[in-house]
Amino acid sequence: MARTPVTGGNWKMHTTLPEAIALAQEVRHRLGSQRLGDVLLFPPFPFLAAVADKVAGSHVNVGAQDLHFEAKGAFTGAVSAAMIVSTGATHVLVGHSERRSVFGDTDEIVAKKLRAALAAGLKPVLCVGEQLAERQNGTTFAVVDRQLTVALDGLLADQLQHLIIAYEPVWAIGTGLTASPEQAQEVHAHIRAWLATRFSAAFAANCRIQYGGSVKGSNATGLFAQSDIDGMLVGGASLTADEFAAIVRAGRAVP
Ligand code: 13P
Repeated sequence: MARTPVTGGNWKMHTTLPEAIALAQEVRHRLGSQRLGDVLLFPPFPFLAAVADKVAGSHVNVGAQDLHFEAKGAFTGAVSAAMIVSTGATHVLVGHSERRSVFGDTDEIVAKKLRAALAAGLKPVLCVGEQLAERQNGTTFAVVDRQLTVALDGLLADQLQHLIIAYEPVWAIGTGLTASPEQAQEVHAHIRAWLATRFSAAFAANCRIQYGGSVKGSNATGLFAQSDIDGMLVGGASLTADEFAAIVRAGRAVP
């Protein structure tokens, strides 16, 4: 069963409002009207509505980089799932490694955020991945298994029809050290096998798994060529419309 490629641009804490609008317009322009799989932009919170407005009617959708798990209340500085939905965004990153390492999101917090996203109808991109020391001591699969187990605990396949998983080895993020296509494929295949055991073979065959970590136009084709890599989650290279469009175009043709 062919899975539609899905490539996301995680802008992280970059751009101002005018820059975000210009980048969204430029990405839309570069991609043209041809459907090149699913394309997602993850701008900073304050620019979600403006970016959603700029890509309305195109094949590009918008997501937030994080959310808070509470629905509302005295949580100064936090952003709820309903707030994100009200901007026109449809997706949300959950458990990005920078949220885990810089902001202290534990596996349990990630699980709560994932539930809050699902309850509000947001399509979650659940990020997992090992640190360099974990790869070196041979615990990559164990780390990814733990992250998936806790995040998806108690959830049913029916609730997760729109789930996207992003495998982002922490040592490859922002370092220029991309995982080789073979290294990435090995973990993607492992994640798919895990999903088959936890849910079903059909669920695993349908679920899209993105790779993230120093993806560029020049290495995207080799990554996309791997059978279990269904898309890219791009940081730095997504801030340049040309480069991001080249990565999207490296994806397999839409079935
Ligand atoms: P880079 O592409 O800058 O390595 O970032 C990857 C990432 O963290 C995407 O979420």
